Amino acid sequence: MPEKRLGVGFIGSGFNARFHLQAFQAVRDADVLGVWSPNRQHAEEMAALARRLDVGEAKAFPSIAQLVTDPAIDAVWLCGPNFARVENVEEIADTIARGKGQLKGIACEKPLARNVAEAKRVAELVTQAGIAHGYLENQAFAPAVVQGRAITWARGASLTGRPYLARAAEEHSGPHMPWFWRGELQGGGVLNDMMCHSALVVRHLLTKPGAPSSSVRPARVTGHIASLKWTRPEYAKRLQQMMGKDVDYAKAPAEDFASVLIEFAADDGATVLGEATTSWSFVGPGLRLSAELLGPEYSMAWNSLDSGLQLFFSRAVKGEAGEDLVEKQNAEIGLMPVVAGEPAVYGYEAEDRHFVRAFLKGEPPELTFDDGVEVVKLLMTAYMSAEQGKTLDFPPKGLEAFVPAVAKGAWKP
Ligand SMILES: NC(=O)c1ccc[n+]([C@@H]2O[C@H](COP(=O)([O-])OP(=O)(O)OC[C@H]3O[C@@H](n4cnc5c(N)ncnc54)[C@H](O)[C@@H]3O)[C@@H](O)[C@H]2O)c1
Repeated sequence: MPEKRLGVGFIGSGFNARFHLQAFQAVRDADVLGVWSPNRQHAEEMAALARRLDVGEAKAFPSIAQLVTDPAIDAVWLCGPNFARVENVEEIADTIARGKGQLKGIACEKPLARNVAEAKRVAELVTQAGIAHGYLENQAFAPAVVQGRAITWARGASLTGRPYLARAAEEHSGPHMPWFWRGELQGGGVLNDMMCHSALVVRHLLTKPGAPSSSVRPARVTGHIASLKWTRPEYAKRLQQMMGKDVDYAKAPAEDFASVLIEFAADDGATVLGEATTSWSFVGPGLRLSAELLGPEYSMAWNSLDSGLQLFFSRAVKGEAGEDLVEKQNAEIGLMPVVAGEPAVYGYEAEDRHFVRAFLKGEPPELTFDDGVEVVKLLMTAYMSAEQGKTLDFPPKGLEAFVPAVAKGAWKP
């Protein structure tokens, strides 16, 4: 048993940080004690929410340095926007280098950064500071993925041979904040924002439980990106009305659809395939996560919208728009699925529990910044492949300095 509880500080108080707060209700050995966000009022509100949820006596801090310096804070959950990743980690590392604070761990949301150079910088800073690092990829901890993978490998693969194809998709109707839509701030479009999940999930499913991810290595990558919806003139206009004048898809669009085929070389000599798609142009009840794993005599399939709970509201029920049925909900009437317990279903609960325990025990977590860097390398290779219109060997030449045309505002769909 670990001796102590982990005092957790949050950087960022937005959508994702609040998901983690819900999840910490299912973590027994941690307390959320601090929040820093550039907007003091938002930090105060998130701290109040933490207290209301009874996940810790959280207070708002005036700076990252002061959060890290406080002896009650043992670990930081980094949930700021992608464009602030490097500066956030620099401030943490600098505070520790000045001997002002100590951390048992830092856990960072996906994607680790906007491109390979930034991801390597983030990983280097944390390694030099001697802090344990965890890469927050919730889908690897989603109960359906964990249990589906375990049973598929234990029963199907052990008797009839390894799986050869994994599929994953994450699809919704578009992100909630303007910065996600702007290639230069976010690092790209939906490929950077959501393929980070699916690219890791297919590799994870194809990897035998207990074996290192290096036993299934990316060898060739074929990427494709497209703008299916949001550059249509009427939708570009609507997007600008919703997200503000700086989101101009007539001039600087980002992709709203991406697909990638990754050919992996497995340690047993097999070539296995990961096929993933992500989309901001999917209009269904709400966020849809799906995953499949196929082998010679078996298959598993998961779809988060096959939730087991459905509600029906007739046209007489004219309620307000909300997200109380499912993340990125699109409708309030008719027959609709409800994802009950989203923080558990999407993997946040098991994820936060895992990283808390790893940091408390001083053990390496299942996913580290090295995994985060590898994911960014795959995403950038997919962008390169899409730009060149051909399959690329992994890692391709020039990957370290590559910035997608989408992120430079130079992409012409
Ligand atoms: N695992 C998932 O499925 C998932 C879901 C959503 C978001 N995310 C990731 O979480 C991160 C945050 O996304 P979000 O949806 O919460 O965005 P958001 O815009 O809702 O929230 C971002 C938060 O960061 C704060 N912020 C602004 N500038 C900052 C700075 N310079 N330094 C630190 N914080 C700053 C904002 O005030 C806000 O509180 C992103 O990296 C995103 O990719 C992951």
